[in-house]
Amino acid sequence: MKSVVIQQPEVLVIEERPVPQPQAGEVRLRVESAGICGSDVHIYRGHNPFAKYPRVIGHEFFGRIDAVGEGVDASRVGQRVVGDPVVSCGHCYPCLVGRPNVCTSLQVIGVHRDGGFSEYITLPAKNAHVVPDSIPDREATMIEPFTIAANICSQMNPGPLDVALVYGAGPMGLTSIQALRGVYGVKEIIVADRINERLAMAKENGADRVINNTDIDLTTELAKLGIRPTLIIDAACHPSILPEAIGLASPAARIGIMGFSSDPCVINQQGITSKELTIYSSRLNSNRFPMVIDWMNSKKIHPEKLITHQFDYTQVVEAMEIFEKDPKFCCKVLLKF
Ligand code: NAI
Ligand code: MN
Ligand code: ZN
Repeated sequence: MKSVVIQQPEVLVIEERPVPQPQAGEVRLRVESAGICGSDVHIYRGHNPFAKYPRVIGHEFFGRIDAVGEGVDASRVGQRVVGDPVVSCGHCYPCLVGRPNVCTSLQVIGVHRDGGFSEYITLPAKNAHVVPDSIPDREATMIEPFTIAANICSQMNPGPLDVALVYGAGPMGLTSIQALRGVYGVKEIIVADRINERLAMAKENGADRVINNTDIDLTTELAKLGIRPTLIIDAACHPSILPEAIGLASPAARIGIMGFSSDPCVINQQGITSKELTIYSSRLNSNRFPMVIDWMNSKKIHPEKLITHQFDYTQVVEAMEIFEKDPKFCCKVLLKF
């Protein structure tokens, strides 16, 4: 089989590898399509602290089960499935409290173990979620990115009284905007980004108001407009954002962060406690695939709006370069296998 392998930072090769055999409790997928994510590019460029090389990248993948290992129901062969990249032990504290995404021995497919940019992949049977026929292949490939939004939103519990502020209109911001609009029905969604084309996408994906904060102070601008956000999602993930969000938040607001920057940021307790703010963090997803499949099936979210490009996997280098260099016009890129 052919696999997209990052042999070491900056070295991507399409390698011939043996088709893997599913182990006990596993299924094998014939991968049909996969999505490119910022973290794939980070592994390619050597900027992911968790990655070990060589690595088959890809954690957003869809395909059909073509073989099962011992102990897995043979009737699963032929199922259309999407893979949850979170592989967890099932018995540590986070696993026992329903948070396998931060398992003490977490293995993320495409990061810690080989991923979905490959003609075949094996994974635990419980990580392969059946996709109803009503969801086309391309949309099914988008389930994983929406599980990130589902995970942060499930924790923050948005509602009709919320005035939401989303920082960043990349794939993560846009999936969150779609969920806030289509699933949770918040009162108003304001989006801040530095790129006008991305702000235009934010509007198409459900934002009521967009603000380009390249040259303006967002706190001042929101004060001028009389807006005090009650729910803030940081999907831009610059260290300067959390202190700003704490300052501009309404009393009793919730703030959700998902960045991995190791740079410090300065916050003070008074800013948080005086307004009794709640700060959530969210990593990947904890069993959110069934939820997102339901959202898609009931048309509460619209994954096609995010897909701007599609390539054959043999053009993976070109696809990654467009994804990296063209944030104005490129959002989600799919690879066909
Ligand atoms: P992206 O780079 O496509 O989008 C980020 C957007 O934020 C860009 O449009 C950029 O112009 C904007 N931005 C940057 N600084 C800003 C600022 N100060 N104010 C307003 N907007 C600003 O990235 P993507 O794929 O949407 O991911 C966003 C972040 O989420 C990344 O940092 C990524 O590492 C993180 N992430 C976290 C996950 C988790 O599970 N916690 C999962 C996936 C991504
Ligand atoms: Mn991703
Ligand atoms: Zn565990």
